[in-house]
Amino acid sequence: MQSARLVIALQKKGRLSDDSISLLQRCGLKLLSSKSSLFYSAQNLPIDLLLVRDDDIPALIRDKVCDLGIIGENVLHEQENPSEEFVFEKVKKLGFGKCRLSIAVPKEVDFSDVTSLIDRKIATSYPNILQKFLKENKIEARVVTISGSVEIAPRLKMSDAICDLVSTGRTLEENNLKEVQVVLESQAVMIKSRGALSFEKNKTLEILLRRMEGVMQAQESKYILFHAPKSAIPEIRKLLPGSESPTIISLAECDDKVAVHVVSREAVFWDTLEKLREAGASAILVLPVEKMML
Ligand code: PRP
Ligand code: ZN
Repeated sequence: MQSARLVIALQKKGRLSDDSISLLQRCGLKLLSSKSSLFYSAQNLPIDLLLVRDDDIPALIRDKVCDLGIIGENVLHEQENPSEEFVFEKVKKLGFGKCRLSIAVPKEVDFSDVTSLIDRKIATSYPNILQKFLKENKIEARVVTISGSVEIAPRLKMSDAICDLVSTGRTLEENNLKEVQVVLESQAVMIKSRGALSFEKNKTLEILLRRMEGVMQAQESKYILFHAPKSAIPEIRKLLPGSESPTIISLAECDDKVAVHVVSREAVFWDTLEKLREAGASAILVLPVEKMML
């Protein structure tokens, strides 16, 4: 009999691993913390985690070793075989691990547009995505596939340009390269195979997705409280960022002032608070929201 536990593949070490585990923990999964282990079992939900190399995640799902995986869109698209394009389904974009796959050239090189790449050698660990990009732009160039340290290829005269992941841009800076063309924007996504899950697994997935949505919403959201003159409320409402209808509560022994409570679904910046204050608000508190279920 097939196990009813949902198996999720995660990156063991690298740019997504800490955030992936932390997201699942914030979704309430109690994990046994044996760091050396490649296998975690949640104590309070029928979910198991398999920690692997990110490049192996699509194959593990394709082979039905795992039901789901958390992976960068860069890895997913690199491995997506056009003939089996519909093997994977993106279940949810997770909002972390944001980076881009970009073409970069040595700083001193003139680059006007993609045609500057014609007949050039480009080193990359993402040959499929790059070839597709070149084809779409009708550029004939040579793609040199190397598996790591792509950024040193121009210095070693292995290539004229590179196509690699950029997040802070520090790696490019350190290697005297400049980013000239974004090829793909990427972030962490949860994927599954297109085939249907069993009834039990699907139920677990629904719970998990609802909690992930709650965690992601809560992360952005703030609970704002303040006092304000009744007469200022219309103007103040216009200033509140991404908020729903506020709760207005009367204050004891005070007829002209009210307390306002509101959940903002966006970050709240200092200048918003300053404008609220100018509009008459006082005693303004901004609190983080821990959990949210809509
Ligand atoms: C990528 C890329 C660069 C670095 C860029 O490697 O190959 O080395 O990140 O990031 P930065 O713009 O913040 O400097 P990654 O750590 O993802 O390792 P991998 O490509 O070997 O998986
Ligand atoms: Zn990798």
